[in-house]
Amino acid sequence: MTTPKAATLTIGEQSIELPLIEGTEGEVGIDISQLRAKTGAVTFDPAFGNTGACTSAITFIDGEKGILRYRGIPIDQFQKSPNFIEVAWLLIFGRLPKKDELQRFSEKLTAHAHLHEAMKHHFEGFPVNAPPMAILSAMINAMSCFDEHFGRFEDDEQIEDAAARLISRVRTIAAYSYRRTNGLPFMYPDPSLRYVANFLHMMFSMPYNQYIAEDEVDEALNLFLILHADHEQNCSTSTVRVVGSSQANLFASCAAGVGALWGPLHGGANVAVIDMLEKIRSGGLSAEKCLELAKDKNSGFKLMGFGHRVYKNFDPRAKILKAQSDKVLKKLGVQDPLLEIAQELEEAALKDQYFVDRKLYPNVDFYSGIILRAIGIPVEMFTVMFAIGRLPGWISQWREQHDDTSTRIARPRQIYTGNTLTDYTPMSER
Ligand code: SDX
Repeated sequence: MTTPKAATLTIGEQSIELPLIEGTEGEVGIDISQLRAKTGAVTFDPAFGNTGACTSAITFIDGEKGILRYRGIPIDQFQKSPNFIEVAWLLIFGRLPKKDELQRFSEKLTAHAHLHEAMKHHFEGFPVNAPPMAILSAMINAMSCFDEHFGRFEDDEQIEDAAARLISRVRTIAAYSYRRTNGLPFMYPDPSLRYVANFLHMMFSMPYNQYIAEDEVDEALNLFLILHADHEQNCSTSTVRVVGSSQANLFASCAAGVGALWGPLHGGANVAVIDMLEKIRSGGLSAEKCLELAKDKNSGFKLMGFGHRVYKNFDPRAKILKAQSDKVLKKLGVQDPLLEIAQELEEAALKDQYFVDRKLYPNVDFYSGIILRAIGIPVEMFTVMFAIGRLPGWISQWREQHDDTSTRIARPRQIYTGNTLTDYTPMSER
């Protein structure tokens, strides 16, 4: 079916034509940019479930078919020798890097892995049990105090420099926040190690004992980060775009994205899933009770790690993470009862009419925590791991908007439902 060129909208006696735009995968959008000027009306779409905020060439999702592609490449093709830094470059620059380009980018990441010494003292200012996402957001913002020249970008090299700093240092910040909470000395980055191995070194080495990541762990964490790298206009990416639309700098925009990702309905779900599975394991909650509560509107309980605004089929990332969690546990010889509970819960939910009717499937957060637990990353760091993975996506989306000369500041409208004209009442008459 060929898409018509325009949609006709009739309000009362007035009919107007609204242009249609079509994406490369056949998605159709109604361009309403002239709607208010022509009719005085605005659209009303709380949570933007039916609203396209931009065009983008970075990530394609088909929620009905469970398809996810980065710059056209299906995510399952990254499973063979997964390289997070290669995918980060792909997302930001729109194609796979050549050998020398990847080498150059890796060298920049190595050169910028350390924090400015003055930033290390910031950690002492946080309470020992401070939430790592609060520290991450604060420290990314603080980076704009030390890299103030990254306000605007003139060319690819400047973007690559800023991306290298952010992607490299977010790993150091995460590791340092873990070390501080556990009263451990900060471990400086080791320039001989690649991205994931260096992160695990900063997390788990001691001055007298180097942590060497097993190949399977390194591979699993590279794949984990790749699967979290971008997801088109999700809540935190939209936040990064909205903040960036005011021409706020890249660091301030990504720090805002950390805040949005923190919520349990979004990236924070990977922590909530483990809490839920722990409650089932400790006997505080049975799987059946879980499903019962999830179906009871008044319980306020949701089956965490299930459901998705876009996927009405399996989240392709959940499928890969489920298989990966099995593989990592076997390789490390780790028995995690939570994996079995998760599998039972999934099986029960997928047979339950409530979940079937609402097309609720496991999402990226349902199995991701099992892998992180097996590696020894504490649950309070899980959403930080999601943020480390998502950072290249935020940078690529911020850059796509920054380079688009038609970008205007994001400023939605509203439908006012408050008081009509009201006079001020002096205190003596209240
Ligand atoms: C991420 O957008 C992205 O791309 C996000 C993400 C990314 O990579 O950036 O994929 C990462 O955030 C994954 C989602 C992680 N969150 C969770 O696992 C939290 C649990 N899930 C739900 O809160 C919910 O499914 C959302 C938030 C993910 C989606 O919410 P929507 O699209 O607003 O859906 P909804 O709340 O309107 O639900 C529709 C129906 C409702 O029932 P009815 O009113 O139709 O009777 O489904 C029900 C909901 O009550 N429902 C659930 C449920 N999720 C939806 N019921 C029980 N348990 C759930 N998990």
